[in-house]
Amino acid sequence: MSAAIAHLDDLEATAARGVRLPDGRDALLVRVHGRVSAFENRCPHLGVPLEAEPDRFLEAGGELIQCAMHGALFLPEDGECVFGPCQGARLREVPVSVDEAGRIYLAAE
Ligand code: FES
Repeated sequence: MSAAIAHLDDLEATAARGVRLPDGRDALLVRVHGRVSAFENRCPHLGVPLEAEPDRFLEAGGELIQCAMHGALFLPEDGECVFGPCQGARLREVPVSVDEAGRIYLAAE
């Protein structure tokens, strides 16, 4: 099995953080309501990274992913943009799995 890319302990109850995937892509991990998901760190609007400061991927309420450039908001469940200039587009999901010990792995794409 490949190496874990992160651990649940790295994510607060409602939090997100950036990770570099083994293939060199930058991604974000987000844990909202206990569910962990991951996406490539590239806004579908202009293709830029989402965050302006390290690990700042969520809007103030901590429920939605936000692009710092123009404020687009994305659902943490599937990456759909629900507000902003790319409404209806999606972040590209990176499938992950979590084992019993809380280690987060890339799942087979
Ligand atoms: S670059 Fe992300 S909303 Fe414009």
